[in-house]
Amino acid sequence: MPTILSIQSSPNMISSASRAVSKSYIDKYVASRPNTEVVDLDLVSSPPSHIGPHHLQAFFSPPEEHGPESEAALAVSDAYIAQLMDADVLVLGTPMHNFGIASTMKSWIDNILRAGKTFNYTENGPVGLLSGKKAVIAVGSGGIYSEGFMQGFEHCGNYLRDILAIIGLTDVTILRAEGLAMSPEAAEEGLAAGQAEAERIAV
Ligand SMILES: Cc1cc2nc3c(=O)[nH]c(=O)nc-3n(C[C@H](O)[C@H](O)[C@H](O)COP(=O)(O)O)c2cc1C
Repeated sequence: MPTILSIQSSPNMISSASRAVSKSYIDKYVASRPNTEVVDLDLVSSPPSHIGPHHLQAFFSPPEEHGPESEAALAVSDAYIAQLMDADVLVLGTPMHNFGIASTMKSWIDNILRAGKTFNYTENGPVGLLSGKKAVIAVGSGGIYSEGFMQGFEHCGNYLRDILAIIGLTDVTILRAEGLAMSPEAAEEGLAAGQAEAERIAV
């Protein structure tokens, strides 16, 4: 039974494009594989805490130096990593906020990128410890970044793709609903294009 882990970070709970594109992918995937289990990780309703002193202690000191707060931080990070390991397909939905990903998604990344757990440092740079998973990234943005003069400002889907590569996942597709703030027509077109591509790759 395949497991999809859907990780959503748009604070727009009513009309989010990244959530809609993610849903199009998941619905189509499940329609052709009805025994799929979908696990929802909503980073807006349950935000991961920002990395603080207890995380540093938890991640970088021996267990005997941990206090209750660092043990709690470690438990949360371990749980996120276990959830990630259990999934066959990851669907990461993010709005573009100031050219980057949602801050909740960044906090989740800060919790799952752990040396010795999800990647190792080597002489040749970081080597990922995960494999065999597919990942789909759904980005919603007001402007257009897949082409044109703003391409270099895309630190959202491209960043997530690079992060996934660090932990060993290279079967990654970026889906874009873009141009959403340009005009009502452009928004409709941008969302429809993202959803159509999501359905096309999900079968
Ligand atoms: C705080 C904030 C920052 C934003 N920054 C950008 C940006 O840098 N570039 C852009 O194209 N759109 C930007 N937008 C517009 C969002 O990307 C757009 O509303 C998109 O629909 C968000 O995805 P969602 O619908 O899944 O929430 C921003 C919106 C907000 C609320």
